[in-house]
Amino acid sequence: MTPAPNRIRVWDLPTRLFHWSLAISFFVAFFSAESERWRDVHVIAGYVVGGLLAFRLLWGFVGGRYARFAEFWPTPAKVWAYLKSLFTGHPQHYIGHNPVGAVAVFLLLGLGVLTVISGWLTYEEIGGELFEELHETLGDAMMALVVVHIAGVIVSSRLHGENLVRAMISGWKRSPRDENPAG
Ligand code: HEM
Ligand code: HEM
Repeated sequence: MTPAPNRIRVWDLPTRLFHWSLAISFFVAFFSAESERWRDVHVIAGYVVGGLLAFRLLWGFVGGRYARFAEFWPTPAKVWAYLKSLFTGHPQHYIGHNPVGAVAVFLLLGLGVLTVISGWLTYEEIGGELFEELHETLGDAMMALVVVHIAGVIVSSRLHGENLVRAMISGWKRSPRDENPAG
């Protein structure tokens, strides 16, 4: 009898579809932002980002276990304990988002919402220069955070010896029971 492989379904299909659609629509919105000729593309991609974020905010309450906000809400105590553990050589392992990753997730969601709202206000010519400037700053800040996010994914994958990108594609992770304690 072959034992069942110790794998856990971490990311449900809606979360994975959300993530990769968000990544694509964000990059389209960002790189079409500057030119007047691409304005329609920019606005449509921006609204897609908005729709995806609205879905994720709902899914954070009714989605699968690891997609729920309550599962990975990063309290200061959890963030601190995780950071300390990085220096002990035995980093705490989380099946879903680790507390530092979770901070980035909430910042990305929050900044995303603000960027879309300020973009809409700019498009509707409400608030003039102020919202235009604010929208650009928020869009740029979000891009900076995305760079940090991707760097964090790479560092975290190495630290824990697991391929987080593959898990966000397939949904599966190795169960902790399978892990080599020495590794
Ligand atoms: C090619 C670029 C990207 C890669 C390789 C990537 C990779 C990942 C991975 C591996 C995770 C899971 C992290 C974990 O295991 O804790 C994740 C989560 C997440 N990423 Fe990305 N990401 C990319 C681009 C983006 C972009 C552009 C955004 C936002 C604009 C973004 C927003 C998020 C969010 C919000 C989550 C949390 C997922 C959830 O719980 O719904 N990512 N990303
Ligand atoms: C996450 C989604 C979005 C991102 C990352 C983003 C990013 C940006 C950035 C960086 C700029 C400044 C471009 C430049 O002049 O260098 C910009 C401009 C603009 N965005 Fe967005 N945007 C998003 C969503 C939206 C939405 C949803 C709308 C409208 C409903 C919108 C409407 C506009 C308009 C009208 C401008 C031009 C402002 C001007 O006249 O200078 N954006 N966006």
